Amino acid sequence: MPIKVNLASSDPLSTPADVVVVGVPEGASTGEGVLARLAEALGESVKSQVKRDDFTGKKDQSIEFATRGALKPGRVLLLGMGSGRLTDVDCRLLAAKGARFANGVRAESVAVAVPPGIERAERAAAEGLVLGAYRFTRYLTGDRVPKFGLARGTVVIEGKVSKAARDAVSLGQQVGEAICLARDLINEPPNEVYPESLARVAAGVGKQHGLKVTVLDRAALLKRGMKLIMAVGQGSAREPRLVHMVYSPAGKAKGKLAFVGKGLTFDSGGLCIKPAQGMEEMKGDMGGAANVIALMAAVAALKPNVEVHGIIGAAENMPDGAAYRPGDIFGSFDGRTVEIINTDAEGRLVLADCLAYARALKPDLIVDNATLTGACVVALGPTVSGFFTNREELAERMRSAAKAAGESMWQLPLVDELREGLKSDWADIKHTADRWGGTITAALFLREFVGDVPWIHVDIAGPSTASKPYGVFSKGGTGHGVLTYLRLIEGFSG
Ligand code: BES
Ligand code: MN
Ligand code: ZN
Repeated sequence: MPIKVNLASSDPLSTPADVVVVGVPEGASTGEGVLARLAEALGESVKSQVKRDDFTGKKDQSIEFATRGALKPGRVLLLGMGSGRLTDVDCRLLAAKGARFANGVRAESVAVAVPPGIERAERAAAEGLVLGAYRFTRYLTGDRVPKFGLARGTVVIEGKVSKAARDAVSLGQQVGEAICLARDLINEPPNEVYPESLARVAAGVGKQHGLKVTVLDRAALLKRGMKLIMAVGQGSAREPRLVHMVYSPAGKAKGKLAFVGKGLTFDSGGLCIKPAQGMEEMKGDMGGAANVIALMAAVAALKPNVEVHGIIGAAENMPDGAAYRPGDIFGSFDGRTVEIINTDAEGRLVLADCLAYARALKPDLIVDNATLTGACVVALGPTVSGFFTNREELAERMRSAAKAAGESMWQLPLVDELREGLKSDWADIKHTADRWGGTITAALFLREFVGDVPWIHVDIAGPSTASKPYGVFSKGGTGHGVLTYLRLIEGFSG
């Protein structure tokens, strides 16, 4: 069961919860504020502990007190907030760290005190509680089944509890849960999540939230000439699927946005098979698709004034007697022919058909996201997504959306000189060039299929999964990207 978050106006130190989390601005001392009150309630040990830990509220400092019945909270966790101006990003982080800590000490309830005067703080804190409380334990049995779980979260504010604040907490809970769904899908093993089951989940989300969902199965994909998705999936016993989800606003739409996700439920590399070492991580090669499903659920809760389409290309890349091969040439939904060079560069093929499909919807913007290239992780490290766009003015929008969402994204260039590497002697285009600039050539290949439509491509290969928890992200699937896309949508919605 996910944590249930509510809103309360109270004094944090009088809030009944197993753990209460309070952010402390830099320069704190035991002479004032929460530290002074703790010293008063818990005695001199507070001062010596603060002194020993040199806790002054610097960013990322933390200190913890057990109250032993002297106060309503069982434990109080203080987190240093640093000296900069605080935003909702800090609130989300504070709440997530608090919830993660609470999980670690087997708490069942956690409360986070939201600093006053921060825009969108309540929603972000609720998101943070849900994101920080997240664990994936579905396949643990016996002794390994967790005996404790965070069941209740409280966002504690100073002012009055208004309807707007309550709605914000509820929205935050729903956004958080949507992102946790993306995490679940990424963390689920590939024998459970395959194209058909992924499509089923998307259809279920659609049903739950009143979204229109169309699933193209093998016959429909063949009929429409989506030969690239079919090619990637033809070596697998699991047939590919294309899923199209639609959110339509109640009133007049201010625009039409399409989000596309790579949904490789497993990427063995195909005939150009990957090394065994780390191959299990390729169960997460559907992170882009998981994000799109999560985004659509979040959009249904947010109800923006724009039409939002979610398109996922789901396939499994496997080697067998029917698998596609280097040298094969396939047509595409777009009409152009593609020569296959490396069967491990399968994501861009699936995306090419999805992008051409999205383009036919005549949207104002296409955003695709994909665990596309290892080269992107080499370039930017495991916590930063690389993004590309064919409109410079969109780069600024994307940058500020990512910043406002607290996610790390960095623009990379569509270097025209590298386009030459995609020339084929035998077909209209080939899908890989040489090793250099591998993230860029992947993006250049995708660009061929979007035409003139404003487009952003996000390579999430690094941050879609995490080897250890950090920020609001959990180990394993993260859902990195969803908060940024939501911000982008809110920007269009006004
Ligand atoms: N899914 C992988 C990219 C990937 C690598 C994602 C590591 C997450 C972590 C993708 O399909 C792939 O195999 N890309 C190749 C492309 C190459 C064959 C041109 C790569 O990055 O090596
Ligand atoms: Mn691959
Ligand atoms: Zn892949």
